[in-house]
Amino acid sequence: MTKNSESNAAARNIPERIDALRKAFGSDLAILAHHYQTDAVIRHADLRGDSLELSRRVPELSARHIVFCGVFFMAESAALLASGGQESHIPDPAAGCVMSQMAPHRLLEAVYARVTASGRRVVPLAYVNTSAAVKAVVGRHGGAVCTSANAATMLRWALERGDAVLFLPDRNLAANTADAIGLDPAERHVLDVRGGGTRVDTAAAEGARLLAYPGCCAVHARFNAAQVAAARKAHPGCSIIVHPECAPEVVRAVDASGSTSAIIRHVAQAPDGATVIVGTEINLVRRLAAEQAGRVTVLPLAESGCSNMARITETNLLALLEALRGGRAEPVRVAPDTVRHARAALERMLEACS
Ligand code: 13P
Ligand code: SF4
Repeated sequence: MTKNSESNAAARNIPERIDALRKAFGSDLAILAHHYQTDAVIRHADLRGDSLELSRRVPELSARHIVFCGVFFMAESAALLASGGQESHIPDPAAGCVMSQMAPHRLLEAVYARVTASGRRVVPLAYVNTSAAVKAVVGRHGGAVCTSANAATMLRWALERGDAVLFLPDRNLAANTADAIGLDPAERHVLDVRGGGTRVDTAAAEGARLLAYPGCCAVHARFNAAQVAAARKAHPGCSIIVHPECAPEVVRAVDASGSTSAIIRHVAQAPDGATVIVGTEINLVRRLAAEQAGRVTVLPLAESGCSNMARITETNLLALLEALRGGRAEPVRVAPDTVRHARAALERMLEACS
């Protein structure tokens, strides 16, 4: 056997080796995967879901090793919700979320100090796409976490508890959720967080009930209203659904928006022969198209992939399972004080949405 054919044979064996390790671990291992994972990875998952479903399931898992196939904040959230003796792992810790990186915790502290300097009670509400350090800041100030599946419930929850809400990091999810609950555009303000928070317009912030941090997702920023118009022209009678991380002008132009699981349900409920255009990460759209082939035509609004989600591969999943077996795997670690406050913010969400 040549070196090349040996490595080809090893690559062909990867799924079998993962299967064998999963069997060997038995109930000691739970593999969780987000819907944006590739088919090659997601087929090894015990649980797949959107961010809310996966966080909800963590506290009820009895497996000692949780392996999260997704981006880092998801594995970190699993670590926050895990019970004693459980550890959360990710096949590639460098799989970060670009949106979550737009809101570092020190900048959030500075911005929060500015918008509360007058004594106003501002409730911070962090999208789950944030670091544990950011969730801890939010938890310490009496705030909570939300996901795309419960953002409306949690925005109402936060508005009831203060004079204003600081929503971060996604300005699009903030605006789309405000539209969904009917919050007057005059009561909203997008914060200028440049200069370490020194450029926040405090007068404008004082007059608003929704203070949106100006982050966004590069993957969903690629969708626009012109694509929606072109899809309607090319596919008369189609329905179009997008993720609420898309810009408000896109969400207003389509038929529905929702979390990745809501998108899956929308496609599953489409009548036979329908055409559904989907605006979200391409791995999920391709999977839906393949699953529905012959019943419903599923097409992407545009092809947009999350390069960080794609960092998780069968190869690094196998490497992690082998390291776990050999006692060499490094779990996701969060400092105890961060765990306490971040967990409080996550638990407020789980309680409010139970
Ligand atoms: P969901 O919570 O809808 O699965 O979305 C997570 C995400 O990162 C979307 O970009
Ligand atoms: Fe983050 Fe966007 Fe990737 Fe979701 S799709 S993980 S928000 S960068």
